[in-house]
Amino acid sequence: MIDVELRVNGRDVCETVADQTLLVEFLRQTLGLTGTHVGCDTSQCGACTVRLDGLAVKSCTILAAQASGGEVTTVEGLANGDTLHPVQQAFVQCHGLQCGFCTPGMIMAIDFYLREPAALDHDSICHALEGNICRCTGYINIIEAVRHASRALYPDDAAAREEHP
Ligand code: FES
Ligand code: FES
Repeated sequence: MIDVELRVNGRDVCETVADQTLLVEFLRQTLGLTGTHVGCDTSQCGACTVRLDGLAVKSCTILAAQASGGEVTTVEGLANGDTLHPVQQAFVQCHGLQCGFCTPGMIMAIDFYLREPAALDHDSICHALEGNICRCTGYINIIEAVRHASRALYPDDAAAREEHP
């Protein structure tokens, strides 16, 4: 057994878990944060994506003990009270989901991509999301949600980057 200390969605947690506990298991089973999904457990689908120390990571590929001492944000930590994060709002407005299983990971991956003004042409967005698989939507509305979120986050220059990627 090993002690894992993390700051998760702004809250300090310390739990004792089995050495081999994955970060995604720690989030879902130990902390009850089931917004982070497990689609494959083999680092392919991206449903388990969270933010760890500022980077988007697949939480099925990291031991909780490896992350200990770090700061994690899950999809539950994005909204500001009752106000959705701009990426979440964009998914609502663009209908960027169907079953919703991939959605938390997609949102966390896009949150990372849009941490600063980013290219918004089709190929750049597809490249940014190549680690996240959606079996339902055909991706078109997800790609539009990226642009929509960018316009909300960076209203001064998003349109220009869409025209001149
Ligand atoms: Fe982690 Fe699929 S569950 S990448
Ligand atoms: Fe169903 Fe993406 S909306 S897997």
